[in-house]
Amino acid sequence: MANLRSLIRDIPDYPKPGILYRDITPLLADADALHEAVDQMAAPFLDAGVDVVAAAEARGFIFGTPLAMRLGAGFVPIRKPGKLPFDLHSFAYQLEYGTDELQIHVDGIQPGQRVLVVDDLLATGGTVEACLRLLEKCDADVVGCSFLLHLEAFGGEARLEPYHVHSVLKYSGDDGEAE
Ligand code: PRP
Ligand code: MG
Repeated sequence: MANLRSLIRDIPDYPKPGILYRDITPLLADADALHEAVDQMAAPFLDAGVDVVAAAEARGFIFGTPLAMRLGAGFVPIRKPGKLPFDLHSFAYQLEYGTDELQIHVDGIQPGQRVLVVDDLLATGGTVEACLRLLEKCDADVVGCSFLLHLEAFGGEARLEPYHVHSVLKYSGDDGEAE
């Protein structure tokens, strides 16, 4: 079995001093590791009756589509403003400096569909919390959230309550990537 943690590359002081960036690109480039990562992200949800996987651009898309295929589900993109052409739900959220916004097509999810939210990384939880608020606007039945990495020091899991949060690799130190 691929050693996933050994394929996460630590980059100190990126994108700014004091930030330790967890670079997933060596894992993505390794065929066995990519396969293993998708399998492990999907594992708790194999029998959850997932209809649709939803994920936010850009890195969420890397894992969202293969998870959808693994689970026999569809895929719905959540995007930054100006990218989706049809009628939209929008949710704006606070960043350290300024705000950001994510959007979903109003007909992307049918009411009551069972949805799994996927992203590469859970840090502050702001991104996936925004996804959850959008899915609530769609009256989705969210079965949980699945991540490759969880940087526990940022406390993001609390923002995703009461939803089921699954992560493959946990980092518990004070260091980590917040961007
Ligand atoms: C990164 C990462 C997660 C998010 C995690 O996305 O892909 O989506 O940060 O951090 P959070 O839990 O504090 O929200 P980023 O916004 O850097 O954009 P990208 O996916 O387009 O690279
Ligand atoms: Mg992202």
